[in-house]
Formats: sequence, structure tokens, C-alpha cells
Amino acid sequence: MFADGGTIAANPELPMASALAENGRASSDADSIDGACQTQWECWSDTEPTESGGTCGKCCVVVLEGMASLSEVTTKEKNTMAKKSKKYFGSRFDEGKCRLACQARVKGVVKIQPLGKAE
Ligand code: FES
Repeated sequence: MFADGGTIAANPELPMASALAENGRASSDADSIDGACQTQWECWSDTEPTESGGTCGKCCVVVLEGMASLSEVTTKEKNTMAKKSKKYFGSRFDEGKCRLACQARVKGVVKIQPLGKAE
């Protein structure tokens, strides 16, 4: 579920970014998502969803509801958010509310706000 009211289904075996990408809610190319505020990725690959990502910090999303319905934060994800996401998103980054879409698995209903901007 998104802050804008949209909903999509996520496979709990794959990172959240897979569902976002399949539904046009995330991209590795800012120009392909029409300048809208979306989630982007850089180090993750949608062709190797469970074997990639977790190092650039650019796929951050704000979890508005349902943080407990996400997989546990790994040390790698925590470190990337603390070092890279914080620098990249500045004051929009809130460590207690953010997750990396390329790392977090969705296990229940969550409501997110994409943090990235496409411009
Ligand atoms: S795409 Fe790089 S950390 Fe998620």
C-alpha cells in the first residue's frame, strides 16, 4: 500500500523492490518514471533480486505503517542506510522509519512512501 492510496501485492520471497519494479513504482532510470517521486535503484538488479543490492542506499522508502511486517534489518542494510542513504537523502532520511526496498521483504500489509525523486 502506498501513501497515495495505491496497492500492489509483494512476493515475500523477494525484496520489496521487485514488486515496485514490476508495478512501475521503481526504476533504475529516472527518466522512465515521468519525473514523479518514486523509488530508484542503482546497485540492485531486477534480474538477480536476491543476489544484488544493499550498497548504494538509493532505494530507500519511508515505512508509514507495518514496519513489523517487514523482514528484519540486516547489519549490511543498517550500515548502508546510516552511511549512504543519510547522505543521499539528507533531511528526508529518517533512520527509524526507512528501509531499503532492495533488501526488505514484505510479510504483511505495509504502507510506504517512496523517498526518491526522479528529476
Ligand atoms: S538499490 Fe542500492 S541499496 Fe538498494
